[in-house]
Amino acid sequence: MFLTTPFTDLRLTTADLVLRPVDEAGLSTLVVVLPDDVELDPRATTYDGVGPHERRAAALRQTTWASAGTWSPADWALPFVVAAGGEVVGSQVLEGTDFRHTRTVDSASWLVPGARGRGWGVQARAAVLALAFGWLEAEYAVSSAWHDNHASLAVSRRLGYEPNGETIHHGGDRVDTMVHLRLRRARWVEDGAGDTVRVEGFAACRPYFGLQGRGPEDRAAGESTEEEQADLGRVRPGR
Ligand SMILES: CC(C)(COP(=O)(O)OP(=O)(O)OC[C@H]1O[C@@H](n2cnc3c(N)ncnc32)[C@H](O)[C@@H]1OP(=O)(O)O)[C@@H](O)C(=O)NCCC(=O)NCCS
Repeated sequence: MFLTTPFTDLRLTTADLVLRPVDEAGLSTLVVVLPDDVELDPRATTYDGVGPHERRAAALRQTTWASAGTWSPADWALPFVVAAGGEVVGSQVLEGTDFRHTRTVDSASWLVPGARGRGWGVQARAAVLALAFGWLEAEYAVSSAWHDNHASLAVSRRLGYEPNGETIHHGGDRVDTMVHLRLRRARWVEDGAGDTVRVEGFAACRPYFGLQGRGPEDRAAGESTEEEQADLGRVRPGR
């Protein structure tokens, strides 16, 4: 779904980054820059006689196409290309599973090694959280990482996620402790981490998330009533 319009007009902008939904050109670039240490979906199809890079490239492509092909307002996964200074530096995914009932989003991300450790992991996550809490009316964001993925866990804690338990998880050939964290909408709004994120081009995507009528973006564009402006202030969408 997100591979074409109207999603291709969606832009999330932070202090240093621009995030746009993955399209075919963006996916081709991500496949080239995909680092070897990024864990891909262990359920992805594998092919005998194919080298490791080609196998990972196929997995990323098939996972992305599967997300596009199985999109529904209830269950969706929206992958973004993350760029800094016009260069593609990674990917950030926002996911909603049974979203209409749970109002809960999950996320996944990776950056090329040269782009890590500059605060861009936090910015990329904050960008999609601004979309989730400001425009998609999410109530919770969850995140999970292996207990020793310190960077991923630090991104979550920095953005106000709180402990949400641990499980023993089986992924690929690893069986180990997975740490779960959860961010509440009230905490996100209170911290104001999304205030500097700019969201553009979301209005035309609203029906694909099961959202009816005009959203905060349209209202912020100057078509709002006084009552709608008051709502806008309460939800503090990240513009
Ligand atoms: C996870 C990832 C996207 C985070 O992006 P990043 O740009 O490295 O993170 P940031 O620079 O925004 O740093 C965020 C926090 O992580 C901390 N951090 C970064 N790398 C760290 C490391 N190797 N060890 C411990 N803490 C680390 C930073 O100090 C910062 O914490 P602070 O805000 O409390 O100071 C990136 O490291 C990555 O691509 N990792 C490989 C893929 C991956 O594991 N993805 C997550 C799968 S669940």
